[in-house]
Amino acid sequence: MSEEIPFSQELRLATREGHDRAQESAYIVALLAGDLSQAGYAALAVQHYFIYDALESAATAMREDPVAGPFVIDALRRMPGLVDDLEALLGPDWRARIRPAAATAEYVDRVAAVSGESTRFVAHQYTRYLGDIAGGQVIRNRLRTQHGIRARFYDFDELGPAPVFRDKYRALLDSAPWSAAQRADLISEAQVAFELNTAVFEELAEDLDRYLVA
Ligand code: HEM
Repeated sequence: MSEEIPFSQELRLATREGHDRAQESAYIVALLAGDLSQAGYAALAVQHYFIYDALESAATAMREDPVAGPFVIDALRRMPGLVDDLEALLGPDWRARIRPAAATAEYVDRVAAVSGESTRFVAHQYTRYLGDIAGGQVIRNRLRTQHGIRARFYDFDELGPAPVFRDKYRALLDSAPWSAAQRADLISEAQVAFELNTAVFEELAEDLDRYLVA
């Protein structure tokens, strides 16, 4: 691809179509339209639990990696907030009541299988965390205004202003010492990550009628 644009921009452009498919999936559209009940949102939070367990276990393993290490940023960790959210949404016995969807299990397997490589590890982190910081804030506002839920999962206050963080993250992407082949590999894994997310949303949409507000 062109060397004139920074790698972070190349990544963004190469995942735009996948982004739009994820964003336009029926479950996400219903969530943003205010059509989902609190239980409907809880179904997504449950799937996040399995996904972030895999992402953040990979982060712990990659913390000392010379290339991936700088991408392991503690304020990004979603698991502590997610655990609080699940307890609030589902009650104290939530752990016994949750199961991964088939698409989630596939996503988790993929993260576990590829995250020992700095490129693919970063592809998965990028796809989720930058999304949570951007579009996730729209979901956060929707949950707050519609259901009065304070979803800690979407609370990035500790990270400081989002635009400043995004610039820092893009600078990390642009300065990592990846070869052209490794950069291509990261891009293709990010495309896979978007499709894995869309597959989770599609599986959630199969039960959409149970998740609609009464
Ligand atoms: C809920 C619906 C969504 C909305 C409204 C939304 C909106 C946005 C917006 C406005 C940006 C641009 C932010 C900026 O450049 O300053 C963005 C970026 C991003 N979104 Fe989403 N998004 C949504 C869903 C998702 C999903 C489901 C994912 C992935 C699972 C995702 C992943 C990303 C990523 C990785 C970026 C960063 C792109 C980059 O700057 O490199 N988004 N989103």
